[in-house]
Parts: sequence; C-alpha cells; structure tokens
Amino acid sequence: MERQWTKSSWQDFPALQQPKWPDKGAYNAAVEEISRMPPLVFAGEVRALKAMLAKAEEGRAFLLQGGDCAEDFSQCTAPAIRETLKVILQMAVILTYAGGKPVIKVGRIAGQYAKPRSSDTEKVGDLEIPSYRGDMVNSPEPTPEARVPDPRRMVEGYYKAAATMNILRAFTRGGYAALHRVHAWNQEFVKNSPMGRSYERLARHIAAALKFMECIGLDTDIPQLNQASFFTSHEALLLGYEEALTRQDSTTGDWYDCSAHMLWIGDRTRQLDGAHVEFFRGVHNPIGMKVGPNHDIGEIKQIIARLNPQNEPGRLTLITRFGKDKVEKHLPPLIRAIKSEGFRVVWSCDPMHGNTYTASTGHKTRNFDDILQEIQCFFEIHWAEGTVPGGVHFELTGDNVTECTGGGRNIVDEELLRNYQTNCDPRLNAEQSLELAFRIAEMIRS
Ligand code: PEP
Ligand code: CO
Repeated sequence: MERQWTKSSWQDFPALQQPKWPDKGAYNAAVEEISRMPPLVFAGEVRALKAMLAKAEEGRAFLLQGGDCAEDFSQCTAPAIRETLKVILQMAVILTYAGGKPVIKVGRIAGQYAKPRSSDTEKVGDLEIPSYRGDMVNSPEPTPEARVPDPRRMVEGYYKAAATMNILRAFTRGGYAALHRVHAWNQEFVKNSPMGRSYERLARHIAAALKFMECIGLDTDIPQLNQASFFTSHEALLLGYEEALTRQDSTTGDWYDCSAHMLWIGDRTRQLDGAHVEFFRGVHNPIGMKVGPNHDIGEIKQIIARLNPQNEPGRLTLITRFGKDKVEKHLPPLIRAIKSEGFRVVWSCDPMHGNTYTASTGHKTRNFDDILQEIQCFFEIHWAEGTVPGGVHFELTGDNVTECTGGGRNIVDEELLRNYQTNCDPRLNAEQSLELAFRIAEMIRS
C-alpha cells in the first residue's frame, strides 16, 4: 500500500542539497513565520497553467521557460524585473508567430533563490569556504562569515518573491505587455543589433499580421492583445520553505505548493526514494524534472509513475539537459522508453546546463552556437521519433551582461569580464536571447 502523503512526509526521506542551518530554533521560527503568510499564487492559476501544458504535450502550445540561474536579492528592482519580463515577452511573440500556436510564458523568477551545488565548499585563494547556495541561504560574498546559512534569508526570499510577483502582475495586466508594444521592441532589436537584419523578414510578417487585424477593425483594446498571461517557477530545493507555502485549496481540497505556479526537481535531487520526489508526489502543481546525462532510464520510469500515477496530462514536464555532444546518445533511448510506457509528458529542452565550460579567462561560460546546436538536435530527434518537442528552458536576463560567448556581437573570452554579473551560471543577455528566439523560429516555422 502507498504511504500516506502529507506536506511534511518528505521529512522521513533523505533530502539532498539542504543547507546545514546552524541554529535549528531560528530555522523553525523562519519556516513557521512563512507558513502563516499568504500564498504567492492561487490554485486556480496553477490549474490554468496545467491545462495549457496539457496542450503543449499534444503540440497545440509551446512552453517558453526562462530567467536567472539564481535570482539576486539586490536585483529585486522594477527595472531588472521589467527587462527580464520584456525579453521573455519578445521571445514569445516571435515563437508564437513562427510556431502558429500559443506560447506558455513561465519565468524562472519570484523564488529562484536556492541552488544545488556540486561541491559543499569552494576555494578562495588559500581559504576553503562553504559554497554559495542561493540568496535564500547565504551571501555570494566570498568570506566564511557571509557563507553561513541564515534562515532569515528564507523570510526575506518570501517577501522578495511577493514583491516580484506583484510587479509582474501589474506589468502583464496593466498594458505594458500589449502585443503592439512587444512587437515594437522587436523591431527596435532588428534595427539596432548587428544580426538583427537577417530577421527583418520575419519581423515584417508579424507587423503585417498586426496591421491586418487593425484594418479589419479588430478591437485592439481587448485582454488577448493588451495583457499577457505569465507564470512563475523555480527549483523547489528548500523543502522547508516549500512546505511552508503548501496549502490546501478550499475549492477542491487538493494540496498546492503556492510558492510558484510551476516547480521543478533538479537533476541532483530527483532520487526515487528521496525527499524531493516524496514532496512533489502530493502537490497538484505542474512539475518539471531535469534529466541530465547521468540518469538511469529504469529509475526515471519509476519516478514518473510515482509523480504522475494517474498519467494526468500537463502534470509532468521532462526538461532534458544533455549537452550538444551527448544529446544524440541519450535523448532517443529516453524518448522510446517513455513512449513505450505510454507516459504523458511535455518534452522541454534546457540547452544551458549540459554546455557549461570554463573560458580561458577562468569564467564559467556557455557558447551561443553550442546552445543552438542542442536545441536543433532536440527538435530533430523528436521529429524523427514522432514525439512533440514541447518547450525550451533558458537561463537569461534582460540585462546587457557578458556571460555567454558568441551571438551576433560574437562575445569572445576576453570580453566576458566586461559585465559578468551572475552569482551562479552564465545567462544569455537580451540580444542573445532574442537572436535565439529568431533562430528557433526559423527551425519551427510552420
Ligand atoms: C538549474 O536549472 O539552475 C540547475 C541547477 O539545473 P540542473 O538541475 O539541471 O543541474
Ligand atoms: Co543554472
């Protein structure tokens, strides 16, 4: 018989990648405080997202998920949030037009504050200090004191997520995300960026479609055109925080993790008998699961059966992140195994985490062409296997950073230090993100 699930039952299972909170009392007080705060999202919104993901699984919608690797508390400002939202909206318009289907916009935002790390410590000069684990745990500042996990940071993370959520709702509802504005931004990109010219044709087609709607007298003052639906997501790593925001929906009696609309399980914490899988099996959110090269197909099948025993469409998104050199080896057997079981999943591609390398300057980076190549392989493999490439997952920012190499301005290693801001993994900047959207558009043009 299946064990009874409660929002705390994960505590009976081994939880990897949890900080070593030095003061248990302070930790308990922090999660207790969060558990009394209002939820950040509402179950009805979460169900709407799940219904849209069910369409993505059938190829009738497309998932675009993106944002920071690790959100930075100091970047919880209107301009920073606006610029990230802006680039995701711009990418979505390009992909909607090219793919001829709705694009589901999901930010890695308003809660992406906790990071799994491959090593517990890092070397800074001669000193070995605890690794940075996200702003909700410790500070990126490279001193032993700053790296001590502080549970008050979880409370601060809750408030920062709430403030972020609030301005996102305002921007997406209040006219900022209106289609004609987003397209005007795309036209600006096409005009001003070195590679932009090659995308002029597609941008002109979109302009013509908008003009056509205007000409036939379609009222543009309608929510479909002047509002955007935008969802939030993060890696649900800190299970105490997630439990504190897990609430029972009064209309259905079901449990939802109301820290975000969609949560994902990282590649390092998806053990079949681990605490993360236990926690996730009981909440009704759509969930993602990262799958990297070190996976066991048999275990993946068992995890899927545990997370989605009813085989509910839209419930589970498999986010594969193999890297350009390994995708051809790993993706086809995984697809075939899932297909032969009849599991319903949305297939999404994270072309970031399998393509990380260290530049000659010592910066952790990723190359634009490698990212593009993994995406291209992802699409082609799914088309060949007769399955649906349902989405993409990026680490990106609206900021003009220099963290990934390549792209239209051909950022080279020596330029990385110019504006390398990330506390964790390297992100595509706004131009690189848009360029990627145009390149994907060329691949999927229907
Ligand atoms: C991430 O998405 O930032 C991450 C840590 O990914 P993964 O679990 O795939 O390594
Ligand atoms: Co990352």
